[in-house]
Amino acid sequence: MAAPSTRALWGYCGRGWSRAMRGCRLPGLRSSWPGSPLGARLLSQEKRASETHFGFETVSEEEKGDKVYQVFESVAKKYDVMNDMMSLGIHRVWKDVLLWRMHPFPGTQLLDVAGGTGDIAFRFLNYIQAQHRRKQKRQLRTQQNLSWEEIAQKYQNEEDSLNGSHVVICDINKEMLKIGKKKACAQGYKTGLAWVLGDAEELPFDEDKFDVYTIAFGIRNVTHMDRALQEAHRVLKPGGRFLCLEFSQVDNPLVSKLYDLYSFQVIPVLGEVIAGNWKSYQYLVESIRKFPAQEEFKEMIEDAGFQKVTYESLSSGIVAIHSGFKL
Ligand SMILES: C[S@@+](CC[C@H](N)C(=O)[O-])C[C@H]1O[C@@H](n2cnc3c(N)ncnc32)[C@H](O)[C@@H]1O
Repeated sequence: MAAPSTRALWGYCGRGWSRAMRGCRLPGLRSSWPGSPLGARLLSQEKRASETHFGFETVSEEEKGDKVYQVFESVAKKYDVMNDMMSLGIHRVWKDVLLWRMHPFPGTQLLDVAGGTGDIAFRFLNYIQAQHRRKQKRQLRTQQNLSWEEIAQKYQNEEDSLNGSHVVICDINKEMLKIGKKKACAQGYKTGLAWVLGDAEELPFDEDKFDVYTIAFGIRNVTHMDRALQEAHRVLKPGGRFLCLEFSQVDNPLVSKLYDLYSFQVIPVLGEVIAGNWKSYQYLVESIRKFPAQEEFKEMIEDAGFQKVTYESLSSGIVAIHSGFKL
């Protein structure tokens, strides 16, 4: 197994350190705490350990969760239209590629964490149904003597077309889920999906439950990514697959320059004009720059216990798909 990265260790030690210090009752320290230089040093170490980033801002870990919640609460209604505007529709292609890489088999149990308004879940259901239709067509071609009623019947049963496949969309934000559910109704997704309010760092599911875990554009918003990755590992069945689609590091200097210009000069303006929300889109852009590059994130996934971890950069590294298995 790969050695734990300093980042993962820091996440863990950070928590352990602050907890240990809160309960500290060492006789030698007590009288000098917290006024002594040692006390002050320990205090500042504890403070640093529980600090994190919210975009380019340094905030406490508690604050980050609240701020991220507010961002998605305030953008929920315009989230989908903004995605199309900001990426000129390309996010749809990246999400399609994620599904092609997953290539789910009939009966797959998928957990889509930070699933938001359901884009990955709907693609999953479409994929399974398209697979089923292709299989049906092949079968019908070999059964020439069926009546048209029998053929129509075969095409009618939506539940059958999923072959027991199911997707759970889990997200921490009620507003995002609300929009997702509305979208599901409007687009006719009635079976094969469930919406669950939950935190990626503490998933409300038993271990060994799912065949595939996906997280698309979600993990960079999580305060303790190491905990979220460990949770992904816990809820997957042995043999299950982790797939993450996330913004990453651009590998082409020219693309990088243009991308920076577009991200910092155009995206917050679009956020303001379309969603009336400059700050949230400024955060989205900054959080992308704070996210680890492909290799570093690969190590974090390995540290959580995943094996055969690989990644694929798309659009010159603007995004990457990381994959790993629980073996
Ligand atoms: C950029 S959106 C991505 C939504 C969707 N996956 C997509 O690709 O369109 C990020 C989502 O992460 C969710 N999120 C942030 N922190 C989370 C956490 N700790 N646990 C679960 N979801 C979280 C937000 O509520 C938001 O819906």
